[in-house]
Amino acid sequence: MTRVTVVGAGFVGMTCAQRLAEKELAEEVVLIDIVEGRPQGIALDLNQAAAVEGYQSLVIGTNDPRDTYESDLFIVTAGLPRKPGMDRSDLLEVNGKIINSVADYIREGSPDAKVIAVTNPLDTMVYLLAERLGFDKRRVVGMAGVLDSARMAFFISEKIGGGIQDVRCMVLGGHGDSMVPMPQFSTVNGVSIPALLPEEEIDAINHRTQHGGAEIVNLLKTGSAYYAPASASVAMAKSILRNEHRLMPCCAHLSGQYGLEDIYMGVPVVLGANGVERVVELELEESASALLHKSADAIRRDLGLLREKELLVTA
Ligand code: NAI
Ligand code: 2OP
Repeated sequence: MTRVTVVGAGFVGMTCAQRLAEKELAEEVVLIDIVEGRPQGIALDLNQAAAVEGYQSLVIGTNDPRDTYESDLFIVTAGLPRKPGMDRSDLLEVNGKIINSVADYIREGSPDAKVIAVTNPLDTMVYLLAERLGFDKRRVVGMAGVLDSARMAFFISEKIGGGIQDVRCMVLGGHGDSMVPMPQFSTVNGVSIPALLPEEEIDAINHRTQHGGAEIVNLLKTGSAYYAPASASVAMAKSILRNEHRLMPCCAHLSGQYGLEDIYMGVPVVLGANGVERVVELELEESASALLHKSADAIRRDLGLLREKELLVTA
């Protein structure tokens, strides 16, 4: 029996639970939150929807970490989202404490699980989660690049007048303003983006992609995006659960790749049953490589803040 736990029954978490159940990716989808009644209510609602939709997955809502034990996979969305004007790093301390408490029961009850982190600030939270878990780092991965690439793909499809199913994009680096859209590694059915769009339009798309999360935060006024984030998280979960070996931009641990040591950052990886099966190293132009290193500097700054606050303790 496959059990997948979604931690946090907020907007992203409940939408992940819905997509996991509808796609029947696990027999049991456990949804856990600290707010009493919320995960139970959402679970009941989703199980009743199954009568109409016809899916077989059972959703279990709970506030008790023991109900998550022996999960095969976790999607961790617990934490506060951004408010307008807030930077993702503003969430560092509050979400860091939540991540540490969640890591403790994942390690205790599901020592063999794979873990997908979603909570912001993503690159720092996934590093913290991996350190606290002490698992093989290939089993802990963060979701950002699939979402950022989906945003870029939509903006390109808007410009070329549709065909979104043929647009494949690649966005690397940290999940913040320093993310690095890669039009040279993005295509419409194999035709590279620079062959299709003029430079100034590509620059505008890159800029909109880098600020894609803030654009939605500003429109919503409260909370941040959740449909595309949930789709991206569940696509990663599916590649792991079904051992699909999809190549996706994910926040993975680097130990020398791209000239970066001991950091979690967005790079292309192959995701399969063991988590990150392989980090794919692209040959980057000097300017793109410099941007990746700049993005890594921003992540290291946040990790330093976590250490100062004694939330991140490295042995
Ligand atoms: P939300 O506020 O709707 O939901 C968060 C949920 O976490 C709440 O229900 C809250 O009660 C719960 N929670 C808090 N502490 C908890 C704990 N210790 N255990 C279990 N649950 C706990 O927020 P939303 O929109 O679902 O976003 C969740 C997180 O995901 C935020 O940090 C947000 O910034 C991040 N995010 C990251 C994205 C990415 O690309 N990596 C994309 C979208 C959101
Ligand atoms: C997003 O990119 C807020 O990180 C979240 O939508």
